[in-house]
Amino acid sequence: MKILDQPEDSSPAISYAGLIEKIEILRSTLRWSSRLERAEIEKLLRQASALRDEVMQLSHKERFVQAAAAEPERLAADLLRSRGARRQALLERSFIFEGTFGDNPKLLEALEIAEKAAPTDLPVLIDGESGTGKELMAKVIHANGGRADKPFISVNCGAIPDNLLESELFGHRKGAFTGASGDRKGKFESAHTGTIFLDEIGELPLPGQVKLLRVLEAHEIQRVGSDEPIAVDTRIVAATNRNLRKLSEQGMFREDLFYRLSVIHVTLPPLRERRDEIPLLFSYFSDEAAGALKRRPVRMTPRLRDFLLTYAYPGNIRELRNVMYRLSCLAGDMADIDHLPVDMRPMAHAPAAVGASSDAATLNGEAGTANLLSLSDAKRAASDEAEKAFLQRGLREVGGTVAELARRVDMNRSHLQMLLKKHGLHSKDFRHSAQSRGATRNSATDDADESEADLR
Ligand SMILES: Nc1ncnc2c1ncn2[C@@H]1O[C@H](COP(=O)(O)OP(=O)(O)OP(=O)(O)O)[C@@H](O)[C@H]1O
Ligand SMILES: [Mg+2]
Repeated sequence: MKILDQPEDSSPAISYAGLIEKIEILRSTLRWSSRLERAEIEKLLRQASALRDEVMQLSHKERFVQAAAAEPERLAADLLRSRGARRQALLERSFIFEGTFGDNPKLLEALEIAEKAAPTDLPVLIDGESGTGKELMAKVIHANGGRADKPFISVNCGAIPDNLLESELFGHRKGAFTGASGDRKGKFESAHTGTIFLDEIGELPLPGQVKLLRVLEAHEIQRVGSDEPIAVDTRIVAATNRNLRKLSEQGMFREDLFYRLSVIHVTLPPLRERRDEIPLLFSYFSDEAAGALKRRPVRMTPRLRDFLLTYAYPGNIRELRNVMYRLSCLAGDMADIDHLPVDMRPMAHAPAAVGASSDAATLNGEAGTANLLSLSDAKRAASDEAEKAFLQRGLREVGGTVAELARRVDMNRSHLQMLLKKHGLHSKDFRHSAQSRGATRNSATDDADESEADLR
């Protein structure tokens, strides 16, 4: 019975090999014992109990591993819920936004900052690449604040010749300089009680920066050619596509002005960092273009859609908007790759050789390095795909019944509809599988939901 004299405690490291060894010990004990004494029986029972505990632990571990494997799906659903909840909360608080937004966390963060800043008079600095919506955001801040019914005056600091800058911003007295034939109000006075939007603030020359700083500190201006101070109550929102901090390190932008302007700092993410918003923008701008051009909203072939979903958009939302207007104008009902501007098309585009959705990568591969995705873009695109696949699987499961899917994944129905729209998913396309499985659809609410979700 030597073998039985091994330590009976189960080792903390559990393995199937260890379990088999212990079972073999039990078998051998039973085989060689002609007669079992009480002590031996006790020993075997203890070993059997240890074995049972280990099997229990293994099964717990197994279940844990399975649950962990399912975790990403659950996390994805949780994430969708919380992102959707943030967007929903903004809408429920009647946040005014003259455009469209989905549930991209970076954009939501910018919008939430704007929402909080809007009712205050604190200066706001908006930065972001060209075409990311800085001017739109400035208007949003104005529209959501207490000055909404007062003037919003926009000044492009990069477009005013140096010698006219002071007069443009602060006005002048008659005869202050050659050509000043009468008194004239400047932009600050025009924006009194309202908001002044100082666009391209990074282009403001240093002398102009000094004068602006004085207005920010004293809340008064002097017209060119006058000593008389005029009090101005103007909320300042500035925008730039340059890195003001870096400019100030290089001595090209006054540091004190930078800190004055950026009490609240909002950064708008480039479109490549909010790709998940692209389908929403397709839909928004194709409707907008249809309205402007008085025609039906343009539809896209799958290969065009796939290409545009992964395109790099160096010109950000403005570029996407222009593309949608172009497609709406040049294509009939259905737009294809050939309707894109030549410099945007995949270089070696050969229509016959290009397939549907799975060829998106090939299309981009042909587009040259300018359109190559970065690693983070590729990850984001993969996450979008996972989201879409999750919704498709869900819709298949419930036979295209949106209300049922919302129930199952515990998601707000309107948010789910928005996601379906974002991915171009039509609930009716999933109904066939339901009918073939004999699933029933009976809720009038579902019909309403789905017609809403099926807006292209
Ligand atoms: N979320 C959005 N929804 C709808 N339209 C948008 C959105 N964001 C931006 N746009 C549109 O995109 C275009 C570019 O936006 P905007 O002019 O505000 O960008 P910008 O950052 O000021 O660009 P630039 O630096 O070149 O001046 C505008 O037509 C604007 O209405
Ligand atoms: Mg702008």
